[in-house]
Amino acid sequence: MTMKHYDKHFNIALDGPSGAGKSTIAKALAKNLGIIYLDTGAMYRGLAYVAVKRGLDVTDEEQIKPLLKDLDMRIITGDVQQIIVNGENVTPYIREHYVSKAASDISALPSVRIKLVELQREIAKKDSVVLDGRDIGTYVLPDAEYKFYVTATPEERAKRRFLQLSEKGTDVPPYEKVLADIAERDYNDSHRSFAPLKQAEDAVLLDTTNMSIDEVVNFVLNILERK
Ligand code: DC
Repeated sequence: MTMKHYDKHFNIALDGPSGAGKSTIAKALAKNLGIIYLDTGAMYRGLAYVAVKRGLDVTDEEQIKPLLKDLDMRIITGDVQQIIVNGENVTPYIREHYVSKAASDISALPSVRIKLVELQREIAKKDSVVLDGRDIGTYVLPDAEYKFYVTATPEERAKRRFLQLSEKGTDVPPYEKVLADIAERDYNDSHRSFAPLKQAEDAVLLDTTNMSIDEVVNFVLNILERK
């Protein structure tokens, strides 16, 4: 299905746990609608990567605050979003397994969220954007025109993540470890006190467990066309 280009400015919030398919869906939507895709998780990952590289404790707000004070984060949106932190293109490193856990930890710090949310709001104000994350519909853009909560069972998400890691080939943890890590991140992301992961009241629920990406994208495009 091909959508007409919209003249009006609008944002689409896609929230949900890791491995639910948000980024694949968001990319397809952005392409179809001719709008920008912003991967907000990559911002937390980029910051976490730099913090770990500097030997900082990502759970200690006092250690992270100076990093935030001097932070220069640039996002180049496009087919493969590039993320530049203090002049270094960190994109190749942010999908490493250890960065996932560090990103989940650092994202629980209120000062981190305040800083990165400010950047996300700026980008979304300027252009029409589909953003994927955890708190887009509930906190970053509560007035977003369209909101979706994308999820799948933990087992299905772990399976997808395991296959993804296996395709890349290096340093693949066993499936049970991937599943345990997903469960731990789900818990972390949904139990932090500041802007936790949860479905916005006005978000449409999309359970992708038994759906292909095309089915999900077409379902979303239909909703957008109708509204
Ligand atoms: O979507 P992801 O796996 O790349 O996100 C990495 C971590 O960042 C995830 O554990 C939760 C956090 N995150 C967040 O707290 N808020 C967002 N809007 C996006 C990601």
